[in-house]
Amino acid sequence: MLASGGPKYAPKTHAESGCYVEATASGKAILLGEHAVLYGCEALAIPLHTVQMRVTAQRLGEHTQNQETGNSSRFYLGASQLPEHAAGVIDDGFAALGIPKYPVHIQGNSDIKVGSGLGSSATLSVITLKALNQLSGNSELKAEQLATLGRQLENRFHGNSSGLDPSVVAYNQPLLYSITEGPQPIEVCMPPKGGWHFALIDSQVRSSTYSMVLQARPFFTTAADGAQRLEKFKAVVRQGFEALTHGNVSLLAEAFHKNLTLLTEVGVVSEALHHLVHQANQLGCLASKVTGAGGGGFVIALLPPENPEQVLQKLQEHFKKHQVIHVSV
Ligand code: PMV
Repeated sequence: MLASGGPKYAPKTHAESGCYVEATASGKAILLGEHAVLYGCEALAIPLHTVQMRVTAQRLGEHTQNQETGNSSRFYLGASQLPEHAAGVIDDGFAALGIPKYPVHIQGNSDIKVGSGLGSSATLSVITLKALNQLSGNSELKAEQLATLGRQLENRFHGNSSGLDPSVVAYNQPLLYSITEGPQPIEVCMPPKGGWHFALIDSQVRSSTYSMVLQARPFFTTAADGAQRLEKFKAVVRQGFEALTHGNVSLLAEAFHKNLTLLTEVGVVSEALHHLVHQANQLGCLASKVTGAGGGGFVIALLPPENPEQVLQKLQEHFKKHQVIHVSV
């Protein structure tokens, strides 16, 4: 349900209310190559069509102003107003689109938990651009433009985003991505015995991407084996790409295992996350790994293509208190 506006604002007059627009954007999951993508490696990611953010945006009258902050735009997700820092994405959006700023009210809801590794900041950035662009009467932005501008907006949250997350949200399709080559949509080939099925299991621990990136950085930039580690990440992502484009499930499982080992070496996989991975594999998943920045967030588990529902049910029964999301590609 969409949240209603907060009490600090004067009710809108008919003249102020103007038109309103709707926008949606999906979450994302990184299959392989997180962190290393920041240092020039490729990464693979998929959109999450069952995990979404939805908003409506409305133009307000110029004199509508929050008495406390002096800022006239506001952004609500559910019942909560976004804190000022996050809501600054609206002003960033106007600047990125080259549209003179005017007051807007954006409200909506989101299935994407903040700090969970499913792309909340990228989704917020992309949906804001879509809404402001539409509200201003401009023609629809191309995926390429949305991805580039989304990356600029995401820097507000991450410091220096690789651009992977906003790209997969903007393109809304599986991507191979690198900073130098940009997003490359991929043709996924289905495995012979069924489709690609994954489960996302919430560790219930939240972490900041910014701090996880800082924590992992020395292992790529100053460690004696940093360059070698980047080569290993590259090889794992190439293996995953081969697997996805040839429908080879055991190859992707192997790439998941290797990627988990590499992420463990750079310090972003806690004991609790390892335990979760171990349990998921014991319950029949072919391989599992942390997805996104790590430290917490979600584990992504590869389900057997021949009986994904059966293993998913076991996961849901076992992880009763955790959110378990089924994702197919
Ligand atoms: O956990 P997330 O969704 O914020 O993933 C960030 C992925 C990183 O590679 C760690 C950072 C980036 O900008 O690519």
